[in-house]
Amino acid sequence: MAFSLFPLSLILLAVLGPMIYNAIRHELTVVGIYRSRTFTSSAQGIHTIPDTLQCEDIHYYAPNNRIFAACEDSFLPRFRWFPPLVHLDVPPTSTGSIHVIDPRRMSSFRLTFENFPGPFVTHGIDVIPDPDRPNAVYIFAVNHLANPEHHPATRAPKARSQIEVFHHILNANTVRHVRSVRHPLVTTPNDIYATSPLSFYVTNDHRYREGLMRQIEDIVPWTKWTNVIYVELDQLNVSDEVADVHATVALPRMHNCNGLGHGQSTDEILVTSAIGGKLWRARMNNDDDANRTLTILDEIPVDSTIDNPSYYEDPYRTAHDDASGYVLAGLRRAIDVPNTARDPTATEGVIVWYVRRKEDSTGWEKRVIFEDDGTNIRFASAALLVPIKPARNLKEAWLFITGVMSNSVITVKVEL
Ligand SMILES: *[C@@H]1O[C@H](CO)[C@@H](O)[C@H](O)[C@H]1NC(C)=O
Ligand SMILES: *[C@@H]1O[C@H](CO)[C@@H](O)[C@H](O)[C@H]1NC(C)=O
Repeated sequence: MAFSLFPLSLILLAVLGPMIYNAIRHELTVVGIYRSRTFTSSAQGIHTIPDTLQCEDIHYYAPNNRIFAACEDSFLPRFRWFPPLVHLDVPPTSTGSIHVIDPRRMSSFRLTFENFPGPFVTHGIDVIPDPDRPNAVYIFAVNHLANPEHHPATRAPKARSQIEVFHHILNANTVRHVRSVRHPLVTTPNDIYATSPLSFYVTNDHRYREGLMRQIEDIVPWTKWTNVIYVELDQLNVSDEVADVHATVALPRMHNCNGLGHGQSTDEILVTSAIGGKLWRARMNNDDDANRTLTILDEIPVDSTIDNPSYYEDPYRTAHDDASGYVLAGLRRAIDVPNTARDPTATEGVIVWYVRRKEDSTGWEKRVIFEDDGTNIRFASAALLVPIKPARNLKEAWLFITGVMSNSVITVKVEL
């Protein structure tokens, strides 16, 4: 038996060997093994936005030229409680906030909650217009709460994350809590893409919440154990988190689904694999209410881990000069994260990619538009571009970068 299997295994090795080798090589590149720890940023003129602590996610809202961010109010809690990084030591009592950043003044304003006492452990958000009220938005935000049903004697997980829906009148200084949303299919929520006040997509970034299996799903690219869930609400006016919530799997069996972002058209949704270092451009099926699955159109690999994606629509584009593209923030050396993520004084280096279609449409041009050793910003988790009116023939934009562990959002002018 062994004898007759021998040639077969050789053939298998010859066929699968290069595939496995290439996958592992890509994985090692993505986690930064080949990048040196020492790196000096060449970026000039970096501005720091005050009062933007540990904002994991930021979104540009073009209609009133503001950036929305979900940030923490105090520095230390994130190092002890943040389920996405398996920080599960102390159930949270802290409250994060929604901030509004004015990109022109480079200032941040913390919205006051009208009716939301917290705790609020911030992560991914989305901001969409209120269809019934111009000048108002709905803000969807992941909230990583502790699980009240967790006891050492039970197997109930430590975290019980949910989604908060807020309503905000643009330029007001308050935000109103509308409802909370919880569903058994939404277990490890990371980022949100809202399609209406009553519906959204959300990623589960892991199947396992801690332990050895969690490490395996991080490391092994063939473990396609995460997904994107589509959630629909019958109504907003309920006090029960689980009331009138329906959910289905929109994109099953993916490796480490993480960030979500709006794309070029209204039916394009961006999904990233964080540890996989991949951006998926996907299409939402909008024609059939009973089928909200996503169809992947493109898989765009980059050479680092990446987090929340954004799409920059160049408002000054012409037929011959269009700087629209995808902006992806990630880590220079994700390989170091197990040693740094619990250390308030550590600095994880960051890298920001700008990806656009090649002019001859044969593929994707990928360019690093910012890189830092972690001194100016650590653990980047999102980046976006805010347009600058072109002067002479120069196309520039303000690149805003935020980090889940960073002290501040930063911004720097980049050429596109
Ligand atoms: C929301 O529900 C409460 C209690 O059921 C009710 O009194 C109130 O009128 C409802 N508000 C709206 C806007 O439907
Ligand atoms: C949902 O739509 C997609 C794309 O049109 C299709 O491939 C898939 O089979 C549909 N699924 C169901 C359950 O109808």
